[in-house]
Amino acid sequence: MPVLKIRKYGDPILRQKAAQQTTFEAALQQQAEDMIETMREAKGIGLAANQVGMPNALCVVEVGLVIEGAEPRAFVNPVIAATAGETVSYEEGCLSIPDVNDDVERPNQIRVRFQDLEGVSHEEEFEGMLARVLQHEIDHLNGIFFVDRLGPLRRKLLSKKLKELAEQTQRELAEEKSKRKPS
Ligand code: NI
Repeated sequence: MPVLKIRKYGDPILRQKAAQQTTFEAALQQQAEDMIETMREAKGIGLAANQVGMPNALCVVEVGLVIEGAEPRAFVNPVIAATAGETVSYEEGCLSIPDVNDDVERPNQIRVRFQDLEGVSHEEEFEGMLARVLQHEIDHLNGIFFVDRLGPLRRKLLSKKLKELAEQTQRELAEEKSKRKPS
């Protein structure tokens, strides 16, 4: 199984809203497995499809980092159906934004509607860390980064770093593109 390249802040696919997944075939299972392997290699707790350059509404979560011994899970077409509980502030990071961590406020409890890899619909409640990770990944599938959810002051403090990262990403993308052209 290949480890996939993780797209970085500044890559336009990370601002795209994911396309609804309508087929549930072996390719989707394979994509989920590749994403789980990529997430583990990068030591992440969650990963969304656009972070590996794929446009569909799929994310994976390393549940075992929260519940000992639990298997990683895949969520297809996930949406937050409801939120509840208090709003909690906790430090987040993102594999697409290296070296940036900051506190993000999010509801502590959510109800998520999703499909599994076979296409079966589910609705399930999550709280605490799993609720946070799922909100972070569902944000990705809507083209939203955790840094978008910071207050104006924090965003301002990070703006230079984010701009530099975006510029570096765009240089790398341009380079990749030029390599693909026949010379
Ligand atoms: Ni992220």
